[in-house]
Amino acid sequence: MGRAFVYVIIGGGVAAGYAAHEFFKRGVTHGELCIISEEPVAPYERPALSKGYLLPEAPARLPSFHCCVGTNEEKLTPKWYKENGIELILGTRVKSADVRRKTLLTATGETISYKYLIVATGARALKLEEFGVNGLDATNVCYLRDLADADRLANVMQSCGGGNAVVIGGGYIGMECAASLVINKFNVTLVFPEAQCMPRLFTSKIASYYEDFYQSKGVKFIKGTVLTSFDFNSDGQVTAVNLRDGSKLPADMVVIGIGIRPNTSLFEGQLTMEKGGIKVNGQMQSSNASVYAIGDVAAFPVKIVGETRRLEHVDSARKAARHAVAAITEPEKTSDFDYLPFFYSRVFTLSWQFYGDNAGEVVHFGDFAGPTFGAYWVNKGYLVGSFLEGGTKEQYDAIACTTRLKPKIDDVAELERQGLGFALSV
Ligand code: FDA
Ligand code: NAD
Repeated sequence: MGRAFVYVIIGGGVAAGYAAHEFFKRGVTHGELCIISEEPVAPYERPALSKGYLLPEAPARLPSFHCCVGTNEEKLTPKWYKENGIELILGTRVKSADVRRKTLLTATGETISYKYLIVATGARALKLEEFGVNGLDATNVCYLRDLADADRLANVMQSCGGGNAVVIGGGYIGMECAASLVINKFNVTLVFPEAQCMPRLFTSKIASYYEDFYQSKGVKFIKGTVLTSFDFNSDGQVTAVNLRDGSKLPADMVVIGIGIRPNTSLFEGQLTMEKGGIKVNGQMQSSNASVYAIGDVAAFPVKIVGETRRLEHVDSARKAARHAVAAITEPEKTSDFDYLPFFYSRVFTLSWQFYGDNAGEVVHFGDFAGPTFGAYWVNKGYLVGSFLEGGTKEQYDAIACTTRLKPKIDDVAELERQGLGFALSV
């Protein structure tokens, strides 16, 4: 059994949804495009899973957050794909790929061939087992990557009805889930091996603001240690978490956010890899000219930084998706992707945006006792990155534009004195 399409997208996440929308805008013909996704639902805005989805009152549920509501564009429901002749093959894993023959084999035994392939397989959550800790089968240990995980997390929260929650990992998932657990009336302890939360991005000053804020909401932080084992009851549920420092934390539920690995395995040995992902050029094209890669799985040249990087954020997935489709459909008109990295988060009443690169000397500004403050990063005499907490749209736009311009900074003390005013005046 086999079917042939001009364009095939593997993966049905954020990047796939935005790529489908771009194909539609460029007038893809009925029957030309197919999306194959392991998930049983049409592409959706994954960031909702750690925020609106976990609210105790009126939680977000599909179809409200299908792509592309995240950029205030039309909502691509299953009906939209049908009406536009885009084949959605859901609940179906691609088991193997042969880039030489341009074919894919699905877990249901179907062979699908393509002229152009877009790999948008995203990433998987790292599991505790990979660090030698058992507990994957316990019903009250939760991860958060896809809708099934979010459903399970929401159900476990409801069945515990408050109590003690231990969150492992001080990155994005740890911080966002800890906030959601507090809102759901849990006593939350956050455990991570580093000296501060959000070590990949926050300066220690920003981290301390966040940790103080979380502590004011009742969250306890245990830093510089990792979990070594769980205690279980006779039903196989976790009842406590044992840490390397010898302490034991009682737990009604556990949430794990210890990083991700890109889903590259279909292409190992077939495509060139870099930074743990599929290496692509500025057209999002891999080492095989018919195969493109976008989203968390792709390592692409980030021009403004002068390096190939793999970014794990939604804005990058959306924009790379649109770019790849432009490059496939109008290669002669499409210049290389020139992306300004953009990350953000929202927790409790807090929210921040970051643009660029967090390399070099840090210049903090604003009032760290108040709602609005930030930081610039100055590398080799140029402003390369900007962070702002609690900004207005105008202020966020200003730091984005300024970072994009990469202005020369002759006097760091003067930059510090001007603070946010510097970005607003550029
Ligand atoms: P994504 O993970 O969205 O999709 C991959 C798809 O491929 C999935 O549907 C998967 O099932 C499918 N797939 C994988 N292998 C397959 C196979 N062999 N066959 C078929 N299908 C296969 N970012 C941000 O900037 N701000 C934010 O607030 C958040 N919040 C956030 C919350 C949570 C809970 C998560 C998990 C992540 C975020 N992110 C985020 C990160 C952001 O969601 C992420 O960068 C994008 O979803 C990446 O989009 P992709 O399409 O690359 O992967
Ligand atoms: P992460 O890389 O942000 O953080 C992982 C954290 O795990 C580290 O900071 C560390 O504290 C901890 N850790 C690592 N090894 C550990 C161990 N052995 N024991 C205990 N802790 C350990 O990854 P994440 O928080 O799992 O997030 C997963 C993905 O989802 C990332 O790609 C992230 O970008 C994405 N995400 C993004 C957002 C956002 O942009 N707002 C929100 C949620 C998720």
